[in-house]
Amino acid sequence: MTYTTEHGDEAVTSHTLTVQERVRRLIHSRLGPDASVEFMEDLAGGYTEASVAKCDVASGGSPGLDGQYIVKTTPLTGKERQRTAHEHFIGALGTFTEQHVPKLVLSAEDDRFAIDLYEIAGGGLRGVHAAEVAGSAQFRAACETVSHDLLTAQLVSSTGRKVMTALEVLEAWLGVGFLDSGRGKALREARQLAGVDGPWFHLSGQVLPDPLSLLAEENELTLQDDIALLGVCHGDLHLRNILLDRTRQHHGSYWLIDVNWSSPAPLLYDQAYLETAAVLTI
Ligand SMILES: Nc1ncnc2c1ncn2[C@@H]1O[C@H](COP(=O)(O)OP(=O)(O)OP(=O)(O)O)[C@@H](O)[C@H]1O
Ligand SMILES: [Mg+2]
Repeated sequence: MTYTTEHGDEAVTSHTLTVQERVRRLIHSRLGPDASVEFMEDLAGGYTEASVAKCDVASGGSPGLDGQYIVKTTPLTGKERQRTAHEHFIGALGTFTEQHVPKLVLSAEDDRFAIDLYEIAGGGLRGVHAAEVAGSAQFRAACETVSHDLLTAQLVSSTGRKVMTALEVLEAWLGVGFLDSGRGKALREARQLAGVDGPWFHLSGQVLPDPLSLLAEENELTLQDDIALLGVCHGDLHLRNILLDRTRQHHGSYWLIDVNWSSPAPLLYDQAYLETAAVLTI
C-alpha cells in the first residue's frame, strides 16, 4: 500500500510510515481530511508492543470527536483485536463499565496496524494515577473495591455454569500447552528453585496445592471437580491497568483499562490475578 505524507507529496509505503503519520492517516480515513491530530504525550509502558499516546483530535467541522484522547496503536498479528475484548466486556457488564471503563470512541486499521481511541479516564491525566504507584491505603482499598465490584457485575451477567475439573479450569485460563510456553518454563524453574516436587507445598505454616503440578501430570488434585460459573473476564487486571482518581473530589473513583479477553471463562481469574499482582507489588 502507498501513501502520501503530510509533509509533501512523496509516496511512501505502509512499511515506512512513522506511528504518528499512520495514526493521522487512519483518523483522517474515519473523520475526513480536515480533522486535526496533535500528539501531546507518549504513554507506552514498554511492557507490550503497543504504542500509547495522548493526543488532541478535532473533527474539523463535521460533528465527531473534539478533545483529548488516548490513542493506542497495535501491530496486526492475526491475534484478536483489543477492540473485540473491550466491546465484549462493555456489552456484558453494562452499568459497571459505564462508570469504570473509558469509552472506545474510534477504531481503524490499515494493512499493518490498528488504532483505537479511548476517552481519558477521569477526564484528564493529571487527575489519575495507576494503582501501582498509589499510597498503600489507597492501593489496598482499590484492590478490595475493584475485586468486589467487578465480581458483583460478573455474577449478575454470568453466562452459565459447568462442572469442571481443576485442570480444565486452569487450561481455560492459561491455555492448553501453557507449561511449554516461555512463562510456563519460567514458572517450572521457579518451582524447582523453591524445592516444590509434588502436588502440595508448605508456606507460612499452611499446606497449599501447587497449580503447576496440576498441569504437569495427573495427580490427586487434577481430577477434582466443582461447579464453575462462566462469565466475562478482563484478562489482564494488574495494577498498571487500574487507574485511580487522585483528586479530593472524586477520591475512590477508579477505571479499568486494557481489557484483554473476549471469550467467556470461569470467573475469579481476575480477582486471583489482581491478588497476585498486589502481593508482588507490596
Ligand atoms: N483511557 C485511558 N485514560 C488514561 N490513561 C490511559 C488510558 N489508557 C491508557 N492510559 C495510560 O497509558 C498506559 C498504557 O496503556 P495500556 O495499558 O492500554 O497499554 P499497554 O500496552 O498495556 O501498556 P503497558 O505496557 O503500560 O501495560 C497506561 O498505563 C495508562 O497510564
Ligand atoms: Mg496495560
